[in-house]
This record gives sequence, structure tokens and C-alpha cells, in this order.
Amino acid sequence: MLRLDTRFLPDFPQAFKEHGPLLLQAREALLAKRKDPQSMLGWMDLPEDTETLRRIRRYREANPWVEDFVLLGIGGSALGPKALESAFNESGVRFHYVDHVEPEPVLRLLRGLDPRKTLVNAVSKSGATAETLAALLVFLNWLRENLGEDWRRHLVLTTDPRRGALRALAEKEGLEAFSIPENVGGRFSVLSPVGLLPLAFAGMDLEALLMGARKANELALAPLEENLPLKTAFLQHLHRHLPITVFMVYSERLKYLPAWFVQLHDESLGKRDGEGNRVGTTAVPALGPQDQHAQVQLFREGPLDKLIVLVVPEGAMEDLLLPQVEGLEGEAGYLFGKGLFQLLKAEAEATYQALAEAGQRVYTLYLSEVSPYAVGWLLQHLMWQTAFLGELWRVNAFDQPGVELGKRLTFALLGRPGYGS
Ligand code: PA5
Repeated sequence: MLRLDTRFLPDFPQAFKEHGPLLLQAREALLAKRKDPQSMLGWMDLPEDTETLRRIRRYREANPWVEDFVLLGIGGSALGPKALESAFNESGVRFHYVDHVEPEPVLRLLRGLDPRKTLVNAVSKSGATAETLAALLVFLNWLRENLGEDWRRHLVLTTDPRRGALRALAEKEGLEAFSIPENVGGRFSVLSPVGLLPLAFAGMDLEALLMGARKANELALAPLEENLPLKTAFLQHLHRHLPITVFMVYSERLKYLPAWFVQLHDESLGKRDGEGNRVGTTAVPALGPQDQHAQVQLFREGPLDKLIVLVVPEGAMEDLLLPQVEGLEGEAGYLFGKGLFQLLKAEAEATYQALAEAGQRVYTLYLSEVSPYAVGWLLQHLMWQTAFLGELWRVNAFDQPGVELGKRLTFALLGRPGYGS
């Protein structure tokens, strides 16, 4: 479950009510685009896709030998699975992410892997991203050299259903391939096979993950008063004059979630609007409690230029009681008999109060616990929030011309035919 706390923003309820018509209009405009196959709104339907989930399950069951899972992909093709796998890996399968092109870590990884126990998953919607193709060349060659004809069983592709180099390779070599629906873009693809395939190998409860996402869908379509995604989108909209939005998560297991959110928010919303104005706020990742000993100093006493969002679990699956230790009564006695989770919650609450008291604009999203259900809900909620903001800020939240330009310039620098200066 997901719960919003705006107790330190007393102006919010009234402003939300007053902006009701604007918000409902934004939702209507977004939903009207759903009928257009070019709209890239397919992420709304992913939580219902039980057929793909069944196929992924069958594939996982047919490959019990996997001990190391190597994901080749970048941006939206890696950040979602990484955020969830690191939180929910219960299978013992080791995960490795090649979302970079630095030779030393790639070589170190290759030298440490047993190809007979390794499954390589190359993930690219476009099938054209240089980093992912470079990694694919390296790993495909490594599999071929080490496994001979058996290499095909060790490579699985996740890509566009029809287009691109990965799809062509899958067809030519008869490789197993999963599809990212045409109308789903990279940073909105975590609940497609981009996330579900690796997470099936991580042993995550995928039913619960999708069930949580369906709950977010239900709320996005609910009347204004119950509409959580419209509420947080409005909180972002109301504070759009503040250039920074901090996304601070109080969970070690969810330590990669801020990076996923930063991509979703910045790549979707930082762009020119219909009139050519530069639009967007800069999302900054933070982790509690670690960043209480770093960024929180700035958040508390630095410029009042931020909207700060805390994401805090309300309950733990299991707590760890702190024992009494003789000799430490003076400094640590107040901790004796308390739970580690109690300390985590107290720290989050302390940060919340301290930031509000400092005059920063801050709200909290409480997760009932760090579970697949609650996190599935949160991810889909944040996708709705982003899509609503796209309407409110009059930008296309689903394209990324700035990112594409970087890709084209890389092609030109490396002499890809057709991309010369
Ligand atoms: O959100 C996006 O569209 C991008 O960040 C992409 O995910 C990223 O550029 C990788 O693209 P691709 O999956 O085509 O390799």
C-alpha cells in the first residue's frame, strides 16, 4: 500500500481542490491519446499482460541451470530490473549489469564467469544503442568461443517485436527473444519483459508486483479525492518554480530506485514545450539514512530551491532487536531493546521534521513495506505521475530528442555509415 503525507504543506489540500478542473482536463487529454497506436502509452496495459508473464515463467523453468545472469542494456533497459532485482533477489542467481563501456570491469566480469552456467540477456528497444551492441559483440563472441554450437541456449534477447538489429539476430540465429511492445518506451518498460525476465530469474513474486501496479492504475482513474497519482503530480506542478526535486528513499534494498526515478523524471519532462520554452525540474537521488550524513546538511541549511520527496516503509517484514551490551549503556543504552527498523523510521521522521522546520517543501510517500506489491504500486504510480506532468507542462513525456542526439553523434564519431558530418 502507498500513502501520501503532506502534513507540512498546509496549503496543498485547498490548492488541489482549486486546480481540480485543470487536473481532470490533463487526465482526460492523456487518456484520449490512448486510442492512438503511436501514443507510447502501452505501459498502462502491462500489468494486465498475464500471457507474457506465463511465457517468461515457462522460459525460467526450462533453464534451471542458470547461476549467473548478465544483463546487457542501458538507461530504461537496465535501471528498472536493477532497482528491483537488488531489492528482491531470493533465488541465489548472481546478477551482473553491463550498462557501461569501461573495458576493465567487462574483462573482470568475463574472467570470473563460467559460460556454461551463464545466461546473457541483451536488452534494447531500438536494437541500435552503441553501448548495448558493443557489449553484445563481446559476449556473443565469448559464448561462441567457449560453448560452440550450444551458445544459442545462453543468449536471450529482449527487444522491439519487429525492428532493429536484435530482432534480426534473433530471427537469423533462431534465438529466444521477448518483445517490448511497440508502444512502450525504455523508461516505462520495467513491467514488460525488460524487467520481468530478469526478475523471474531473481525469484521475485511477479504476480504481486503486477497486482500492485494494477492498484496504481485503478487509482489513476479514480475520482480526484482518491487519485494519488494526480495528487503527487500536482505537488510537483505546484512547486515547478523550485528547480530541484529530491527523491530520497529510506531503504537499503531500494538503493537503486532513486536512479530509476531520476531517469523517468528527467528524461521524460526535461525538454522544450510546445512554445519552445525550456521546461523541467532536476531530480536528485538520495538515500536514507546514508545521506543524512551528507546531502541533508545542504537540504537543511542550503538554498530553499527544492521539493523533497521522502519514500519511507511503514513496516518491516522482519525486525532485528538491538541487544544490551555491558559497558555501552552510556552512549548506546537508549537503543537497547529497540528494533533496527524502529531506528530507521525514527531517522526518516526526524529528517522529515527537520527539513520542514528549515522551510523546505517536503512530503512523504509511505510504503506499507518493501514488498513486490507495494513497490509495483509505487513504480506504476510514478509512471502515472510523470505522464500527468507531461500534460500539465505541455511536453511529450515519451520522447527523448536530447538522448537521441547523443546517440547519433556517437555514431558519427565512430564512422557509422549514414551518420557522417
Ligand atoms: O527511456 C529511454 O527511451 C532511453 O533511456 C532508453 O531506454 C535508452 O537510451 C536505451 O535504449 P534502447 O533500449 O533502445 O537500447
